[in-house]
Amino acid sequence: MLKHLKTLTTALAIGAALSTSAFAADPIVIKFSHVVANDTPKGQGALMFQKLVDERLAGKVKVEVYPNSSLYGDGKEMEALLLNNVQMLAPSFAKFDKYTPKIQLFDLPFLFDDINAVERFEKSESGKSLLKSMEDKGITGLGYWNNDLKQLSANKELLEPKDARGLKFRVQASEVLDAQFKALKAVPRKMAFGEMYQALQTGTVNGAENPYSNIYSQKVHEVQKFITESNHGLLSYMVITNTKFWNSLPEDVRTELSKILDEVSVVVNKHSHELNLADKQKIIASGSSKVLTLTPEQREKWREAMRPVWKQFEGQIGVDLIKAAEASNKQ
Ligand code: LMR
Repeated sequence: MLKHLKTLTTALAIGAALSTSAFAADPIVIKFSHVVANDTPKGQGALMFQKLVDERLAGKVKVEVYPNSSLYGDGKEMEALLLNNVQMLAPSFAKFDKYTPKIQLFDLPFLFDDINAVERFEKSESGKSLLKSMEDKGITGLGYWNNDLKQLSANKELLEPKDARGLKFRVQASEVLDAQFKALKAVPRKMAFGEMYQALQTGTVNGAENPYSNIYSQKVHEVQKFITESNHGLLSYMVITNTKFWNSLPEDVRTELSKILDEVSVVVNKHSHELNLADKQKIIASGSSKVLTLTPEQREKWREAMRPVWKQFEGQIGVDLIKAAEASNKQ
């Protein structure tokens, strides 16, 4: 009797296990990889996206966030997305050179007066059309997350363009940014984000350009004596996914994910400038780096020195697109 009962219990247990695996589908996993710290606009956005998906699509979708280049560095993340090894990224605009020349627009020096102008452009028809500009390459843009304008840093005071002459600057892998430093007669060195701190520490490069949130979270201020508040260019992101993966999702799931992402984008873009200002204060309070402010005349000199880069790239980017972006400053 006992033996029969045991057999029956085992049979029931196997049956239960089989029916669970037969009916409860595994959740869809979205790997979201990025290169910055959690405590930055992009890091916070990725975590908020994960949390909201957890709350609203529990059991259906699971988001795994990999910050700080822990899964892929910026040299490899696009390739990983195209191979569907990760499903979401938020690379800075500079990382899209190879996929569409138009996105180089965002890296033109002195294009946007402030982060509000950037947001206005992103919401315009021209801005929205760029989200779809890489679908033939298998990349779908889902939204924009802003970080902030960039500041120059070095171990000497950079007050005028001539101060940068001959210095080696870490740049993202972007032709526009390469040209920008060449226009200053400086020496650009393309390098992954994850390698920047060490390169500055060891003197492989002498300077860099970053928004305050990346300066603070990467401890750049600990290895650079001066930060020039130049606000000379933009560092922001396009949140992207693998087009095939995205289109293969059940429609209700895709719609909910889009809704969540739109909500997250509003929050990220509302707070990114504040977060950068708070990090600027932390840098000043640390006393390890001096923040230099430019006079309007000094800033104008940087603009004049970098501006020829526009002409160099206007053929690839398109004059109309540049005009549309410039128009967002005047509203
Ligand atoms: C950089 O490489 O400087 C940035 O793209 C890093 C980031 O994603 O903010």
